[in-house]
Amino acid sequence: MNRVIKREMVVPNMHLLVVEAPEIAAKIRPGQFVILRAEEEGERIPLSVADWDEEQGTISIIFMEVGASTGTLACLKSGDTIPTCVGPLGNPTEISNFGTVMCVSGCYGIGSMYPVIKELKKAGNKVLTVLEARSSYLIYWLNRFIPLSERIFTITRDGSLGMKGHVNRITDIINGLASPPDMIIVNGCTFLMAHTSEITKSLGIKTIVNLNPIMIDGTGMCGVCRVTVGNKMKFACVDGPEFNGHEVDWKEFLARRKAYVDEETLYFRKSAPKPAVHKEGKCQS
Ligand SMILES: Cc1cc2nc3c(=O)[nH]c(=O)nc-3n(C[C@H](O)[C@H](O)[C@H](O)COP(=O)(O)OP(=O)(O)OC[C@H]3O[C@@H](n4cnc5c(N)ncnc54)[C@H](O)[C@@H]3O)c2cc1C
Ligand code: FES
Repeated sequence: MNRVIKREMVVPNMHLLVVEAPEIAAKIRPGQFVILRAEEEGERIPLSVADWDEEQGTISIIFMEVGASTGTLACLKSGDTIPTCVGPLGNPTEISNFGTVMCVSGCYGIGSMYPVIKELKKAGNKVLTVLEARSSYLIYWLNRFIPLSERIFTITRDGSLGMKGHVNRITDIINGLASPPDMIIVNGCTFLMAHTSEITKSLGIKTIVNLNPIMIDGTGMCGVCRVTVGNKMKFACVDGPEFNGHEVDWKEFLARRKAYVDEETLYFRKSAPKPAVHKEGKCQS
């Protein structure tokens, strides 16, 4: 059992969850994740750790409400408990002094990029932060990134903050620099990771992505998180979750992520208990 210290919506549909997990907080490194269950009968879901406090014995997660489990998490209040939270899982992000590192993130990846950027900065890198969202109101934690970043770029689809457009604007950002970054790290939705990798492959810039396949055990036993990278079979939970984005078989990856779409849809349509429909401060079961 892990006690919930705090759960709050940071921007629409995106929540911060702080849970008591002293053993995880003592060991976790940037890029790693936990697997938790939102309720006793619930499935195991992987979520990246966005921050932690070793002294308080807590970890922070940013999650997006997309389905049953995240819908249940979105209704947690401080003092509630979750039945399982295991970790740290996966390999930490490789951190060293690479020179200039461009960190591209969107969606819940903005949260999981925060500890990566902190460590990169500590290791002496110049960090160029790129935040991508549909609109300015979906960008969060800007105040955390400003002191850590050499430069910050924002891309919004409606042009309400920074450059108007999509991930394609990354080409313009790179072309506008005096020299291209030595490395790019991307955290966020599959579309952001796949398209950034496509762009940077043609520019010859090393690109690391944080893959988010469906996972069950998170320890290399079940095989559900199988991905193909560099024509080799890998398990994202133990070999990753970070991989060279230029080597990922994105077509296969996208297909495998949709494996349970029918069941997920059925859950919402049929008589199965509906996840709480979350409205800030008001959860209905
Ligand atoms: C290493 C890793 C780190 C992740 N970090 C975060 C994070 O920090 N914040 C965040 O919001 N999300 C993160 N995810 C994705 C998150 O696990 C899914 O959004 C979540 O499992 C959805 O569960 P659901 O029941 O609410 O939605 P569902 O209706 O079950 O699923 C919605 C979609 O989420 C994906 N999904 C479903 N079950 C899983 C599963 N067990 N594992 C992975 N993906 C699944 C599927 O593509 C599905 O179409 C991460 C995934 C991985 C593998
Ligand atoms: S989640 Fe089971 S092998 Fe990776």
